[in-house]
Amino acid sequence: TPSPVTVTVTGAAGQIGYALLFRIASGQLIGPDIPIKLKLLEIPQAVTAAEGTAMELTDCAFPLLHSIDVTDDARQAFDGTNIALLVGARPRTQGMERGDLLEANGGIFKPQGEAINAGAASDVRVLAVGNPANTNALITQAHAPDVPAERFTAMTRLDHNRALAQLAAKLGVGVGDIRKLAIWGNHSATQYPDLFHAEVGGKSAAEQVDRSWLADEFIPTVAKRGAAIIDARGASSAASAANAAIDHVHTWVNGTAEGDWTSAGVVSDGSYGVPEGLISSFPVVARNGRYEIVQGLDIDEFSRERIDASVAELSEERDTVRKLGLV
Ligand code: NAI
Repeated sequence: TPSPVTVTVTGAAGQIGYALLFRIASGQLIGPDIPIKLKLLEIPQAVTAAEGTAMELTDCAFPLLHSIDVTDDARQAFDGTNIALLVGARPRTQGMERGDLLEANGGIFKPQGEAINAGAASDVRVLAVGNPANTNALITQAHAPDVPAERFTAMTRLDHNRALAQLAAKLGVGVGDIRKLAIWGNHSATQYPDLFHAEVGGKSAAEQVDRSWLADEFIPTVAKRGAAIIDARGASSAASAANAAIDHVHTWVNGTAEGDWTSAGVVSDGSYGVPEGLISSFPVVARNGRYEIVQGLDIDEFSRERIDASVAELSEERDTVRKLGLV
């Protein structure tokens, strides 16, 4: 049997954690034959709840689940980790300014970056799910200087999946018929879901929908879907977010299909005018265990404006955390 992979999940007692852990333990994260060592990180007040989830994981008798370790100590949680899913974050509470939110999350992601730097496995891959995901990933990366920057990513796969589903419904096709859709920028309401390179049945997706649907329905529906879920469910997306986290890591490890790509927040190399070092969503392919930004796409004026607006927001977030000494 292959040797076990160590997977750390922070915020393990939260609602995404509950939707995520059983799928990881059942073998859906990487592959169906790979044993999993789970490490669950929580804040002290939620350790008992995480231990309850660990009891249920045990009770599933998953053949691949090698061990479960529950802790409130980041060093212990990230020691030897191969895959770190950073789900736990400080939510925005009423009256909180964006700067306060970034500062509070800096208090979480800075020590986690340090712990990853100190003890993670040399092949560690990190996915920030907790919001503001892109900037939380950036803070984590800044405090793990010994780990290659490309190993730090932020989740925009849920936005990508939402966009696939909206387009499929509009055209009456299966999601599997769509290729090369992309989310650009920040995981926020400014994100830009791009249909101009997408193909449906081998033909341009943008040419199969009218421009007003694209601009006035598709883009805002995808960008505001998180708020619509909260309105309907009375709680934020959890199972769909967990599913997207599984997709993100599975693709990262196993690769994208030939002739297709996906979306992920990755460190910019300056491509498409996105300032170097920002963690921005791009169209990406996964090859040989690495996410790579798809190069050489033509960006028209409509797309340029929207990418620039979202990237400007990311730059502002970086300026704020720089002033706070967090990056
Ligand atoms: P939740 O509030 O149910 O759970 C969060 C958990 O994190 C709590 O159990 C809390 O105790 C824990 N936590 C807080 N600080 C921690 C720390 N320093 N170390 C370890 N654990 C810590 O929240 P939920 O619904 O599970 O969402 C988690 C995050 O994911 C939120 O920030 C949410 O905004 C974000 N999210 C991101 C999405 C994306 O597409 N990128 C989609 C949906 C949610």
